Amino acid sequence: MFRRGGRSFKEVRGNPFLFFQDLVERHGSVIRLPGGSHLIAHPDHIGYVLRTRYQNFIKGKAFDTIRPVLGYGVVSADGELWRQQRRILQPAFHKQELAQAAKVVSCCTGRMLDAWSEVASRGEAMDISPQMFELALHIITDFMFRADVEMEARQIADSFNITQAYAAGSLWKVARNHPRSPFPRSREYQRALDTVDAIVHNVIDERREQGASGNDVIAQLLAFRHPETGAPLSRRQMRDEVMTLFFAGHETTASALAWTWWLISEHPEVEARVHDEVDRVLAGRVPNWDDLPQLQYTKQVLQESMRVRPPVPVYARVSVEEDEIAGYRIPPDTMVMISPYVTHRLPEFWPDPERFDPDRFALDRIQERPRFAYVPFAAGPRLCMGRNFALMEGTFVIAMVAQRYRLKLVPGHPIEMKTMATMRPRHGVRMTLHAR
Ligand code: HEM
Repeated sequence: MFRRGGRSFKEVRGNPFLFFQDLVERHGSVIRLPGGSHLIAHPDHIGYVLRTRYQNFIKGKAFDTIRPVLGYGVVSADGELWRQQRRILQPAFHKQELAQAAKVVSCCTGRMLDAWSEVASRGEAMDISPQMFELALHIITDFMFRADVEMEARQIADSFNITQAYAAGSLWKVARNHPRSPFPRSREYQRALDTVDAIVHNVIDERREQGASGNDVIAQLLAFRHPETGAPLSRRQMRDEVMTLFFAGHETTASALAWTWWLISEHPEVEARVHDEVDRVLAGRVPNWDDLPQLQYTKQVLQESMRVRPPVPVYARVSVEEDEIAGYRIPPDTMVMISPYVTHRLPEFWPDPERFDPDRFALDRIQERPRFAYVPFAAGPRLCMGRNFALMEGTFVIAMVAQRYRLKLVPGHPIEMKTMATMRPRHGVRMTLHAR
């Protein structure tokens, strides 16, 4: 059989990260890839790029393919533009805002569970993956807008799914999807982008007319005035920010949760411990912000799930000036890639790496590992702004579902990875619900 890097072509086709993993196992932590890009895997090198030399390793062209969709929002901008946006958004992620967001999470999850009861009583199987996407979409919309814009959110999400093919695609797809390309697909793409733009502008304009107040994201953006010029954010900048947070904030958490349900169902001993903890801490009630520290094991399950199935399995930086990593010369304008999927499997930091073991994240064991051995949220000054939000959201969703149901994978349902902007289960996760 045709084999590449020690694994069969079929295996690698289903999961390109296995190919990177093989390269790292054979050739060490820094891999020079065809075309001049580099993949780095060792925690020390990741720390060097993301923290020590973060000003020399920028986002730049690494975001070019997704630029038409996300523009220059906080995830994809660099330099002063990035710093300014990070400062503007910071208050929306303060503790009191997260405590507020925790109420949104339990409310939206409660509604989803109510809707599940009929499916459960009929004993039907259901794909959990779109359920998690829908839920995360409701939560992020409420967090950002503090308003009922669910209809619009759905439309934005649908349109974004179309534009993702462009962002995650090959050069061929990019050519095909170029706005001036004659292929019919590009017209679909352009329409999707226009829809998204129109909706987002609309939502922002409505809030502006109502005179936005409070600490939510839109209010922060509308209230901003440049310290020197006094100018507000431009319409385009507002749109880029809203789009960016909308997608950074729901695709990722939803992917993490979809994988987590599969992993829990495969590990009954883990499931039993989650049930014990949830029953003991919550005793049947809805969780609130103060419960979070007590739901420690449930949170560890989420963390371990993001180790083996990181929602963002690879991200990249581009060098500004020449640099050196582990003796490798990195010329200017070189793409440096970091793959949590690969780093989270380095056996020197993660013994028996394929084993799903939430105890790896017990508080006393975290100290045993180098800081940058676990990077699902990146690290350094550009660490994910939403990580505390996501950890709270994921933990509460797991806890609330586990309070009511045991989820079992439909026997024989295939589980494979598919990487778009995030890594999702290619065929979904078909499960049956069993009331506890
Ligand atoms: C499990 C859930 C999540 C994961 C795995 C995740 C992962 C990441 C990663 C890997 C990055 C860095 C990307 C890069 O360097 O190219 C990032 C950045 C970011 N994320 Fe998240 N994220 C999650 C949830 C969220 C949520 C819920 C929000 C907002 C509500 C959010 C907001 C952001 C923002 C604003 C940035 C940009 C930070 C900066 O560049 O300064 N994320 N996230």
